[in-house]
Amino acid sequence: MKKARAAVILAAGKSTRMKSARSKVLHDVGGRSMLAWVKALADEVGVSRIVCVVGEANADVRAAAESMGMEIAVQEPQLGTGHAVLAAKENLKDFDGTVTILYADTPLIKADTANRVFEALDQGADVAVLGFDAEDPAAYGRLITDGDELMAIVEAKEASPEQLEIKLCNSGVISADNKSMFSALDRVENNNAKGEYYLTDVIEIMRADGRRAVSVIGDEAEVLGVNSRTDLALAEKAFQSDKRLQVMGEGVTLRDPDTVIFSYDTEIENDVEIGANVVFGPGVQIKQNATIHPFSHLEGCEIGEGVNIGPFARIRPGTIMGAGSRIGNFVETKKAVIGKDSKINHLSYVGDAEVGENVNIGAGTITCNYDGYNKHKTTIEDNVFVGTHSSLVAPVTIGKGAFLGSGGVITKDVPQDALALGRAEQVNKQGWAKRYHAAQQKRRNQKK
Ligand code: UD1
Ligand code: CA
Repeated sequence: MKKARAAVILAAGKSTRMKSARSKVLHDVGGRSMLAWVKALADEVGVSRIVCVVGEANADVRAAAESMGMEIAVQEPQLGTGHAVLAAKENLKDFDGTVTILYADTPLIKADTANRVFEALDQGADVAVLGFDAEDPAAYGRLITDGDELMAIVEAKEASPEQLEIKLCNSGVISADNKSMFSALDRVENNNAKGEYYLTDVIEIMRADGRRAVSVIGDEAEVLGVNSRTDLALAEKAFQSDKRLQVMGEGVTLRDPDTVIFSYDTEIENDVEIGANVVFGPGVQIKQNATIHPFSHLEGCEIGEGVNIGPFARIRPGTIMGAGSRIGNFVETKKAVIGKDSKINHLSYVGDAEVGENVNIGAGTITCNYDGYNKHKTTIEDNVFVGTHSSLVAPVTIGKGAFLGSGGVITKDVPQDALALGRAEQVNKQGWAKRYHAAQQKRRNQKK
């Protein structure tokens, strides 16, 4: 039987180098916070209990973690990583299973990699550490190994010159039987260069208890820890280039991959084509054969089969586009359900609207959905023709097959198959322009 899994996510550290009013781990990578990335990893590998360790100063992290359903442990003051994990001791005192330590500022670790750490435990190790070969080991803790065995983790500040030569470093991810982990942590001391309680000391303590420690090797790119805006940009870049490769691997054409920005949850079916400089905010799903032209921005929407969008379109949350529908340049939609084969090709705003099938919305059409207090709905039934420059003052319903003349301000419902004209009647004054110009010219000549 598989052992139950718990995780302790460390997020109590100060994040001074971000120079941000917001806690570091709430900054986004690929459209979701680093904390949410780490929570997603824990969920993906079947962790049933997550304790997030926060400091008193991180009220925002605490609120975010609680809203994601995590348990909270407060570490105050912050006396090191070992001390941080101990803050979760009370939460996990009766937990029977394995506990894994994760850092909230390390968003890119993949489930496969975390699973390899669990496999090491399944294969008989008592504690397993995720290590990586660091290009520049700098301040990382070094893994002291002997064959497959992990003998110790030595922090850079405590390491001998020979140990500093070691490139195999500690990512921070450590997994062990819950009771052995906390029993070892109780015995960690702070008589070291930083005067901190190092989590990494548990390796030697557990080995002295006769337990077996091993390391598992991961990819340096995955264990990138974010401490600054520069690191944040590196993490974003790594996520984006991964996602682009994934999407192309699934049969999507990216005309200029480096310029397309995805979110963590962008879902695109095969044979979709995406032009340059397209941005996907969170919550976008696109079906087969759709085309997204350059400079379009999509967020929180469902795009049906064969849909055409852009260039320069803004598709906002709650937009659902039926198969074969089209949205052209300088069109914005929000909370709009657009039926099969309907078209909004130029310069329009359609919000809080339900648009039927085969509707043609002319250039410059605006749904006037907001009265300064409330939002109101516009309903446009199947086969309606909306003339250019129409203002639809919601709430309003345009019946099936109706025809709206250009330039109308439509404030009343339009019956099925009717023509609606919502504009002042035109007045033509014969010869007026000629007389006007003559008068103006005369005045100008008198001044000279
Ligand atoms: C730690 C490891 C080091 C490893 C490196 C990987 C220890 C002693 N060292 O070093 O071996 O190579 O991570 O990045 O574990 N935190 C708290 N409370 C504290 C201290 C830290 O919650 O009192 C949290 C931080 O918010 C952060 C994580 O723990 O998420 C790591 O802390 P940090 O100070 O960055 O550890 P390093 O010195 O980098
Ligand atoms: Ca660090």
